[in-house]
Amino acid sequence: MGFFTGDLPDFPWDSLIPARQRAAQYPGGAIDLTIGTPVDPVPAFIQAALGGASDAHAYPATIGSNELRTAIARWLHNHRGVTGTPGILPTIGSKEMVALLPSFLGFGKGDTVAFPRMAYPTYDVGARIAGATPLPLNADADPETWPEGIALLWLNSPGNPDGHVLGIHQLKRIRAWARAHGTIIASDECYAELTWDVPEAPSILDTRVCGTDYRDIFCLYSLSKQSNMAGYRGAFIAGDPERIATLTQLRKHAGFMMPTPIQHAMAVALGDEAHVTAQKETYRLRREALSGVLEAAGLRNDPKSVAGLYLWAEDASGRANGWEIVNACARIGIVVAPGDFYGEAARGRVRISLTATDEAIGEAIRRLPALPGELRHAAAKPRER
Ligand SMILES: Cc1ncc(COP(=O)(O)O)c(C=O)c1O
Repeated sequence: MGFFTGDLPDFPWDSLIPARQRAAQYPGGAIDLTIGTPVDPVPAFIQAALGGASDAHAYPATIGSNELRTAIARWLHNHRGVTGTPGILPTIGSKEMVALLPSFLGFGKGDTVAFPRMAYPTYDVGARIAGATPLPLNADADPETWPEGIALLWLNSPGNPDGHVLGIHQLKRIRAWARAHGTIIASDECYAELTWDVPEAPSILDTRVCGTDYRDIFCLYSLSKQSNMAGYRGAFIAGDPERIATLTQLRKHAGFMMPTPIQHAMAVALGDEAHVTAQKETYRLRREALSGVLEAAGLRNDPKSVAGLYLWAEDASGRANGWEIVNACARIGIVVAPGDFYGEAARGRVRISLTATDEAIGEAIRRLPALPGELRHAAAKPRER
């Protein structure tokens, strides 16, 4: 008898404490460009919708109110190229579903759960919680190069941290491969509205990818980023109707219900495009401003980082690794996240988040031209971790 301890990795953010302390000593204090948590306000009409639904005396439906289900279906149709009727289920943010889907699907010991080799760590965590085997792979590669026997494959397009986008051609190839190999696909698409250098980041549920046959595929979406609603925990999963029905049953038993006021706020937010366009414009300006100073900072963004909320940068001279860039940035009062947090394959890079106020981004831009001196200093020293 005992509590589950699992085979979970250490929570990596604690390892940034020394860099944070160092950055805090810089005149004017630290600029934090690490975590992708929104800093702009929740639009007033969404806050009003939340408040207006606060007389929530009855238990909410696990499956979601008719209002919310209709709003999700309409949004999938209008924004994600969905023409059929996938199953729909609200989730309490998307992170819990990323962490629990392998377990909900009944995967465990002996099953392989694959995910992009540079990825949000929760795909790996979810595999481990289920007792399954985590497998990082290159989602941009020809699926025929992937190993046999993958039970569940996570996709993440636009990708965190690397900003890569899977186009229709690659999604179709992956879908065909998965059908031939009996693999379930879960596609995490929470950055879908934040595209910069590509016209779109298509959904796995897009008609051009799967027609209206949603067997063994899911897409996850969240309002955390597009509507600054990370604190509301409003998200959903859609796809394979039979499997969504099973997930709904499980979640009914376990009491995973989205609170009524959040359901209403989410439905109202999904019905409005203007606030998403405005927020996207805010991020676009921040991205352009930071990108404009990268070269002077001795850094280079990954040319395939074309969407999402992050720059995915390396030392242009190729000398400093991810942690060395982190430490060099800390010396000029900026905190960025080492690629190491996102997998072995990501060690040479750093993730720079666009979720800082305009003022903070402006100050980072003033400081960054001093980075090359610090990078040279880092490269001259024995390797830091
Ligand atoms: C790739 C990815 N998936 C899921 C999430 C979780 O989002 P939420 O739980 O707020 O919906 C995040 C958050 O940063 C993310 O980057």
